[in-house]
Amino acid sequence: MNNDIIVELKNITKSYKISKEHNLNVLKGINLNIRKGEIVAIVGKSGAGKSTLLHIIGTLDKPDSGEMLFEGENVFNLNSSKLSEFRAKQIGFIFQFHHLLPEFTGLENVLIANMIAGFKDETKALQMLKEVGIEHRANHKPSEISGGEAQRIAIARALINSPNLILADEPTGNLDTENANAIIDLIFDLRKKFNQTFVIVTHNEDFAQSCDRIVKMADGVIIE
Ligand SMILES: Nc1ncnc2c1ncn2[C@@H]1O[C@H](COP(=O)(O)OP(=O)(O)OP(=O)(O)O)[C@@H](O)[C@H]1O
Ligand SMILES: [Mg+2]
Repeated sequence: MNNDIIVELKNITKSYKISKEHNLNVLKGINLNIRKGEIVAIVGKSGAGKSTLLHIIGTLDKPDSGEMLFEGENVFNLNSSKLSEFRAKQIGFIFQFHHLLPEFTGLENVLIANMIAGFKDETKALQMLKEVGIEHRANHKPSEISGGEAQRIAIARALINSPNLILADEPTGNLDTENANAIIDLIFDLRKKFNQTFVIVTHNEDFAQSCDRIVKMADGVIIE
């Protein structure tokens, strides 16, 4: 086993049944190694299979065939409660829309993610909000803050359990240039500080160019 690799994908395929006779082959044999501490951008046209791939890496969805190893372990062999525990502790998710729970404050939203992993560390939740520069909004609900602020809270939520791997699906897709750039800078700062691994699907060309590596997908395969 190569200790520098956090995720290893071997010949991953995924299709969706779209009618009785028709399957849509969305991933057609993906081979990809993600190294510890790197920031990888996944780019490609709409429908290329980027989100599907990210969901499989995040163990939210299972491949039809192929193998995925996380730090050398085939996590899809875990039973569903072990897999949920693995996911809660090891993987952080950031989406295009923040998906904060509207009836809870920023701090509570972060804390809930910590509780799902079996903890309730309010001090750490506050520290994470501080880390992403949004502690002054800790007691506000999502409807009382801006989109950029909400995305910072969502990032604090993704980080609360100190995951080794953070997956982001168009994290700046819903933000104006200024807020998008602030979030990009934040991701690089976080990597520097915690040496976490990021896999980021993005349509933002500048962002992709600034990542350590760009993986380009088209029609269910990696083309470069
Ligand atoms: N649950 C599903 N059932 C059927 N088809 C699906 C499902 N999820 C995704 N697809 C199809 O799989 C293909 C790839 O979807 P995916 O969401 O991975 O693309 P994407 O590269 O993330 O695109 P975008 O840039 O628009 O987000 C699309 O044709 C999509 O319609
Ligand atoms: Mg997508």
